[in-house]
Amino acid sequence: MNTRTICFTNNKGGSGKSTTCANLAYELSAAGKKVLMVDGDMQLNLSLSFFEEDEVLAMAENKKNLYYAIKDKDDLTDYIVKTEYDNLDLIPSSTLMSQIEYELFTMMQRELVLKKCLKKIKDSGRYDYILIDAPPTLGTWVINILCASDDVIVPVEASPWGLFGLANMFEFIASLEEMTDAKVLGVLITKVDERKNYYRQTMEVLDSYESINVFKSVIHVDSMIEWAQDASKPVAVFKKSTRSALEFRELAKELMRL
Ligand SMILES: Nc1ncnc2c1ncn2[C@@H]1O[C@H](COP(=O)(O)OP(=O)(O)O)[C@@H](O)[C@H]1O
Ligand SMILES: [Mg+2]
Repeated sequence: MNTRTICFTNNKGGSGKSTTCANLAYELSAAGKKVLMVDGDMQLNLSLSFFEEDEVLAMAENKKNLYYAIKDKDDLTDYIVKTEYDNLDLIPSSTLMSQIEYELFTMMQRELVLKKCLKKIKDSGRYDYILIDAPPTLGTWVINILCASDDVIVPVEASPWGLFGLANMFEFIASLEEMTDAKVLGVLITKVDERKNYYRQTMEVLDSYESINVFKSVIHVDSMIEWAQDASKPVAVFKKSTRSALEFRELAKELMRL
């Protein structure tokens, strides 16, 4: 079985990376796919989407989290935590990830550490998908995430500043061509608000990037997302037929076809 590794990047914070990673991972698992999530951000948002705060902080404090695995260049198999959902596992993060740039700095082949730590899991074929949530930066750690990935999904907020810096990010990904085969699978427009006109504006700009695919699925603003996150649940578990839950399901179907 081939494992497909997909990361969620955008150096702009608040664009919906963690929300998309968590809910798409849940929908893929609910569709019967085996999914491993990797929380690559010191904000711990992906971990908090599935576990209560005290559990996340406990995982962040013990040594079985991504920070120590990267620091020790350890195989990540032993760091896998099961969520309460079938087919859906997580590698938790730590607030210590704030120091990861510093740790990587002195390592040999410092861009490839995450890829090597994930190699056994990937080669074993035990997962259909590995989804990696990235922080809103473009440093060595994000290069690690890109080098470990086959595909990149770029969530973009439908807002006046949502596209700011996007061209730089595409250039950044393209500049890693010799290091990684990771390609931009698509841009996902998030937080679409029908009362405002930014969706059309966003689409017009994205259409001008001829080589970039834009997902047909979009995610509308839905207050249930925040309620669900507060309850550490995927939105579809929190409120089954809320609009965003149906949209994440559509997105999962679109992704499985690509
Ligand atoms: N579709 C949405 N509707 C309403 N709120 C959303 C939506 N998507 C994300 N949010 C909220 O916006 C904020 C940023 O989203 P997040 O996924 O954390 O972005 P990022 O990981 O890119 O920083 C969070 O507070 C989240 O609850
Ligand atoms: Mg995030």
